[in-house]
Amino acid sequence: MFIDPAIDMKPAPLRYSPFKALVVPRPIGWISTISAAGDINLAPFSFFNGVSDDPPCVMYCPNGTHRDGGPKDSLKNVQETGEFVFNLCNWDLREKMNRTAEHFPRDFDEMAAAGLDAAPCEMVAPPRVAAAPAAFECRYIQTVDLPASRAGRVAHMVIGEVIGIHIDESVIVDGIVDIGLLRPVARLGYTDYAVIDEGFTMARPD
Ligand SMILES: Cc1cc2nc3c(=O)[nH]c(=O)nc-3n(C[C@H](O)[C@H](O)[C@H](O)COP(=O)(O)O)c2cc1C
Repeated sequence: MFIDPAIDMKPAPLRYSPFKALVVPRPIGWISTISAAGDINLAPFSFFNGVSDDPPCVMYCPNGTHRDGGPKDSLKNVQETGEFVFNLCNWDLREKMNRTAEHFPRDFDEMAAAGLDAAPCEMVAPPRVAAAPAAFECRYIQTVDLPASRAGRVAHMVIGEVIGIHIDESVIVDGIVDIGLLRPVARLGYTDYAVIDEGFTMARPD
């Protein structure tokens, strides 16, 4: 079948848009930010990825609006204070990560509400999730405004440079990060997730 997204994202026999089920698996950017007033925010974003590695850069996409009608806190805060932290969500943290997706008022600390301890960062003001096996401290570069939906739903891509990396050394074996110990959680389509705990190796042809 062929889909023209401008006409209909879920023609029969589809019950839902297949888009997110086809861009899989998506890493989850569990993003902590802080407002100018010092309020901490933590929220998951599966429109997240590394986009460059020297210097390392990542992006996340706070799309749509907060329940209060304004921009999501993760967009407001990064534009106000210029910093964010990517926290890696592993298998053990999956349920706490999910809890931090709830829309709370801006001065509500989702990290504390989810029962997560905060750890200070070295280079940026937002705290990191202490239990996360890895975290990137990021300096905001820019927001790219993406096309809005026909219904007027806004979309934004926030890009930042990674200026500090934390890794729990217990996931490092023989000098490399061991995926079976890291156990990152990834987003699939619908309400599905995957946990990555094994990989395979393939050498490049040249
Ligand atoms: C696994 C997961 C992935 C999500 N990915 C996105 C995303 O890529 N973009 C987005 O705008 N919201 C995403 N959400 C919803 C946000 O986490 C939620 O709207 C959150 O409250 C962000 O709002 P805040 O920045 O105001 O805290 C996701 C939720 C979950 C559970």
